[in-house]
Amino acid sequence: MSLGLENNLENATNRLSLTDCQEEESDIVDPWNVQSRSQTGVDYDKLVERFGSSKIDEELLTRWKKVTGKDVHPLLRRGIFFSHRDMHTILNLKEQGKPFYLYTGRGPSSDAMHLGHLIPFIVSKWLQDTFDVPLVIQLTDDEKFLWKDLKVEQVIKLARENAKDIIACGFDPENTFIFSDFTFIGQCPQFYQNIVRIQKSVTFNQVKGIFGFGDSDVIGKISFPAIQAAPCLSTSFPFIFGDKKIHCLIPCAIDQDPYFRMTRDVAPRLGFSKPALLHSVFFPALQGAQTKMSASDANTAIFLTDTPKQIKNKVNKHAFSGGQATVEEHREKGGDCNVDISYQYLKFFLEDDEKLKQIKQDYTSGAMLTGELKKLLIDTVTPIVQEHQQRRAAVTEETVDKFMTPRPLRFNSK
Ligand code: TRP
Repeated sequence: MSLGLENNLENATNRLSLTDCQEEESDIVDPWNVQSRSQTGVDYDKLVERFGSSKIDEELLTRWKKVTGKDVHPLLRRGIFFSHRDMHTILNLKEQGKPFYLYTGRGPSSDAMHLGHLIPFIVSKWLQDTFDVPLVIQLTDDEKFLWKDLKVEQVIKLARENAKDIIACGFDPENTFIFSDFTFIGQCPQFYQNIVRIQKSVTFNQVKGIFGFGDSDVIGKISFPAIQAAPCLSTSFPFIFGDKKIHCLIPCAIDQDPYFRMTRDVAPRLGFSKPALLHSVFFPALQGAQTKMSASDANTAIFLTDTPKQIKNKVNKHAFSGGQATVEEHREKGGDCNVDISYQYLKFFLEDDEKLKQIKQDYTSGAMLTGELKKLLIDTVTPIVQEHQQRRAAVTEETVDKFMTPRPLRFNSK
């Protein structure tokens, strides 16, 4: 089956054609690789163009505030969620009092979750609170088994451990369903039926184009995208939605977009609307936007299990600085917030807009020194991590069971 005109647009490849490479060194962004040559990280404006999504602009934010009657979350206002697909459609639904639901997920490859992993969940919780809608969270233990050197038994355990961190973000138990693929596929025939419907609608050629799969990739990988796509079809959750076809909104990091470009092509052919999306930028590693956070190198990220002392040491020793080499030089020339990781992290986690603005001014002018900026970051994230640890410790096995049991949620079909 060939893709329609609109779909061709959405089907922009993640990897670059030869001509692109010759002209400029662009970033690589797909579900398994994120690579940028620039110190400021990926060029997100170019990505919006290449992926054919839309920028989250002032007009959308103004309308959003008007429709919901609430301030828009700082992560959206500050451009950390910077791109979307069909968010206006979701606001139309809200205006008309019509239902939709939220879908997000995590690949449980490690139990060392870091601050960056919280970002999609923080926004999902805020969206759930703002719109009072059901949220489904997919834990792709199967994906991590296929892609990583892990055993089935291990990824199943990791999914459950990660579920505790996710629950600790404060989701409403009456409106949130968390599921792991290995378990849910055996609980819900409708989920598997939708997976196979999707598998029948996408050719090998198409996933090759979208994901870059090759002849020597295992067939599990080639068919996996259908499993991440299926939760976009509301009938995968009959215990929540019955057989109703409800709109879906997905908050995720931009690297997940290929899955949903594919889904947006397939969904209308199966009688569903295209899922809407909100895309976030990547959370940078402590060493700078060009390096990667790694569960095997404790110094690349602030983990949710870190102690206050570890956080302090990591920030002071490893957070890449946009400051100058000497105090004199710094006072004279000022620092560069665009590459400074302490500032970048504050942009994610400091709630006070005015304070953030002041910090940027002072650091850029040289009035604030790197040590002072680092201290501000330490004082901001330490309580966030500590509170997370307290909430996670309070999550019991029974609570996990409750969130992960297929059951009706608070959902009114209007
Ligand atoms: N593939 C994602 C990962 O590796 C996990 C995931 C599944 C997901 N479904 C999703 C992420 C929906 C965002 C939205 O992390």
